Amino acid sequence: MDSESTKKIYALYSDVYDALFKRFFFPRIRHALLALNIEPGDRVLDVGVGTGLSLPIYPRDCSVIGIDLSAKMLKQAKQKIIDQQLSHIKVMEMDAMDLSAFPDDSFDKVFISHVVSVVSDPYRVMQEVKRVCRRDGDVVVVNHFRSSNKVLGTIGNFFNPISKRIGWRSDLGLNEFINGAGLVVREKYMLKKIDFWHMIFAVNVK
Ligand SMILES: C[S@@+](CC[C@H](N)C(=O)[O-])C[C@H]1O[C@@H](n2cnc3c(N)ncnc32)[C@H](O)[C@@H]1O
Repeated sequence: MDSESTKKIYALYSDVYDALFKRFFFPRIRHALLALNIEPGDRVLDVGVGTGLSLPIYPRDCSVIGIDLSAKMLKQAKQKIIDQQLSHIKVMEMDAMDLSAFPDDSFDKVFISHVVSVVSDPYRVMQEVKRVCRRDGDVVVVNHFRSSNKVLGTIGNFFNPISKRIGWRSDLGLNEFINGAGLVVREKYMLKKIDFWHMIFAVNVK
């Protein structure tokens, strides 16, 4: 998906995103962020923060920067920051494929939920993420991946063109992503036995 169509699609979603997706996405976001063990003083980057479903979960003694391509999605995130007085959090309009605003090793932890199948080049994003995260920092990815079941995987591939029209691709495989991104995985699992979403906890070896 190119950046212009992504912006258009997520501008349309922005007002209804929480109503449509919160009940599916929020339990995984909360689980992953709690499992991340954010410590006092940690610098956290939330890539593709969207409407900021994750924002209320961050402890108040860390500092968080959320970035997103969509100004409309960020408007919702900014409202949450104001309404809930989340002064430890800032959000910025930025392309995850170009994090040059941040020097190397700027963050202790990076959180990326429901984004790697939306960006046009997930590997470029991960390259940038690894650069801006410090050595041995934590990188957590929550995402839907193509099923490893042959039939379901083929269905995922088949529906990919339609899926892209509504905001994400459905043909990205878990192992293909992990290998392509060069992630050193500490743990990976799904919250339920049968689930669409995986959580990947990786260490930023560099
Ligand atoms: C499905 S939403 C996920 C939002 C949030 N992380 C969540 O879990 O609810 C995908 C988000 O990725 C953002 N996005 C897509 N491409 C991007 C890019 N290249 N750089 C930054 N954000 C991007 C979209 O604007 C959208 O807000």
